[in-house]
Amino acid sequence: MTSPLSDDRPLTVRLDGDQAVVSTDDGDSCLLPADAIRAAVDRVLGQQAPLGGESTTPASALSAGARAVLAEAAATVPVIRPPSPLSPRHPLRRHGTIPLAPAVGVGSFADVLAARRSSRGLKPPDSGLVLATLAGCIHTRSAGLGDDGWVLRRRAVPSAGGRHGIDPVLVATALTGLLDGAWHLDGDLLQASQLDVDRDTLEQYRTAAAAAAVLPGPPPALVLLVADFTATLLRYPTGASLVWRDAGALAATIHLACTAAGLESVVLGLGGLVPVQLRAALGWDTTRHLGLVGAVGISGG
Ligand SMILES: Cc1cc2nc3c(=O)[nH]c(=O)nc-3n(C[C@H](O)[C@H](O)[C@H](O)COP(=O)(O)O)c2cc1C
Repeated sequence: MTSPLSDDRPLTVRLDGDQAVVSTDDGDSCLLPADAIRAAVDRVLGQQAPLGGESTTPASALSAGARAVLAEAAATVPVIRPPSPLSPRHPLRRHGTIPLAPAVGVGSFADVLAARRSSRGLKPPDSGLVLATLAGCIHTRSAGLGDDGWVLRRRAVPSAGGRHGIDPVLVATALTGLLDGAWHLDGDLLQASQLDVDRDTLEQYRTAAAAAAVLPGPPPALVLLVADFTATLLRYPTGASLVWRDAGALAATIHLACTAAGLESVVLGLGGLVPVQLRAALGWDTTRHLGLVGAVGISGG
């Protein structure tokens, strides 16, 4: 594929609504109409059979997506840019807010490792315990300014470059002591803020989580991991895989923290673009590449 950027350098293409962002590994990028790029991508993908189906293409072609991600990951190095005009956090459209108190751990870590199992339940857990457990995972213990003007946070969970670009959004369904709906958890301010997300959007997430966990209903506490890819990509232009690795670290830590707190939980492989309704409720502008990079379903033990 040729582009205004280069004829021979590897390119990464991100489709985002009407626009396609085409980037080289060294961080140059340009915007192109998504239609044109999508047609080219469809042509390439159209040559492949669906996974598990009859294939006339070499097996290696089926893993082209995996290869592209691995190539991108291998080329990931930080770049130092001047301070970004984007602020690390955008103001939320806040409704109710409640303070979060990080949980005090119980039991030894060895006990927690021995006890950990994925469990998919519908019994409502105590909302105070859920919030405290999540708060313990995302609490910003210390912070400073990085060399590019971004806030470098230190939390229980590691994050590439200390960016911590993933925020949990708790979708509560009949949780004792907490209003149904979406709650954004802020590890800097240690507070949960109710989000004004429409019913349809919430139901889509609940339905997807129920299907993923093979449950007749959604987990009573569904934690969506919403990533601001921009936070990581500004420092690591080919660092999309770092965001996914951050997501794995965060999901596993939440899962283990739930075990320690006596809560049942399961990591869910939900992912995809974040609908405009949720983006608007979060107050994050359209210059940011938001994505759902996983979820954790929590229920009462
Ligand atoms: C990245 C990831 C995605 C997962 N996605 C799902 C899922 O969508 N639905 C589900 O029921 N379990 C999911 N799981 C849980 C696995 O099914 C579970 O870890 C596996 O069956 C082993 O069971 P154990 O965790 O009790 O050892 C996921 C786990 C990981 C790490």
